[in-house]
Amino acid sequence: MKRILVTGGAGFIGSHLCERLINEGNEVICLDNYFTGSKSNVVHLINNPFFELIRHDVTHPYFVEVDEIYNLACPASPVHYQFNPIKTIKTSVMGAINMLGLAKRIKARILQASTSEVYGDPLIHPQPEAYWGNVNPIGIRSCYDEGKRCAESLFLNYHRQNSVDIKVIRIFNTYGPRMHPNDGRVVSNFIVQALKGQPITIFGDGSQTRSFQYVDDLVEGMMRMMQTPKAFTGPINIGNPNEFSMMELAREVIDITGSRSEIIHLPLPEDDPTQRQPDIALAKERLNGWEPKVQLREGLEKTISYFDNLLKSQP
Ligand SMILES: NC(=O)c1ccc[n+]([C@@H]2O[C@H](COP(=O)([O-])OP(=O)(O)OC[C@H]3O[C@@H](n4cnc5c(N)ncnc54)[C@H](O)[C@@H]3O)[C@@H](O)[C@H]2O)c1
Repeated sequence: MKRILVTGGAGFIGSHLCERLINEGNEVICLDNYFTGSKSNVVHLINNPFFELIRHDVTHPYFVEVDEIYNLACPASPVHYQFNPIKTIKTSVMGAINMLGLAKRIKARILQASTSEVYGDPLIHPQPEAYWGNVNPIGIRSCYDEGKRCAESLFLNYHRQNSVDIKVIRIFNTYGPRMHPNDGRVVSNFIVQALKGQPITIFGDGSQTRSFQYVDDLVEGMMRMMQTPKAFTGPINIGNPNEFSMMELAREVIDITGSRSEIIHLPLPEDDPTQRQPDIALAKERLNGWEPKVQLREGLEKTISYFDNLLKSQP
């Protein structure tokens, strides 16, 4: 049994990770300030004696003895990370410093949840890890993108300078149950709009593509990365390379929900990348043949069922 700290553990991805880690017989300490996460995401774990839930903000130091740290604390959707951009940068940068300091002191292995946003609006396609990205350093997304880039730099520097045992994964668009219903991300947006019979809003003409990864595939990749030999730090892409246009996604959601929603078009937001797709060759090679298993239709059905129950339970 390992003792594992998960920051941002009450969020969408974190709650699935905590659940898997507990199910595999580990002891989990879940740290969260509940900015975008909530107790309801982990309420089913609270009675488990091997699960501890702690309200804490990662911009402040935290001390605990653990074997592994998964550092996920950071708002992930533009509506939330742009709400208080300075706080977003502090969460990424000071959160990384605090958690790396802890890992160094207690000699724990630490994994950083980085993002495909480090590639910005990419000029090569699909994006391999060796690509340095095309990020606007002063745009409205930079609080997130540059915060995550700085965190990656901190991780690699703590490794080079202090031999901290680090892992960096670059997560591509992930969806699934427990996504925040109002976070403005495309999958949850379309699903909630379709279930409420509201118009489905597509930014631009809908030809821009994204690859969507189901959360279970990500959690599997994350946990495999944590178990790789010390010499392998990453960064490594974890995502589903199957691309869909926004128009295709909207049609799939309408089809599964049987909704009568119409599709309407709005102007593209500033700095919105037109295309993003992971090159997962490195993940396949280094993570024992890991690759996404859940296809879009199956993942959407599970996610739609979650949102359907959520909306029915709300007044
Ligand atoms: N969902 C995706 O598609 C995606 C893609 C790339 C990277 N990521 C990364 O994965 C991680 C988890 O993302 P998610 O989609 O689950 O988002 P989320 O917003 O659901 O989860 C983030 C969690 O961190 C907590 N948090 C935020 N600021 C904090 C702070 N200062 N101190 C303590 N806790 C704090 C939030 O309350 C929330 O529970 C994030 O680091 C995100 O950048 C997610």
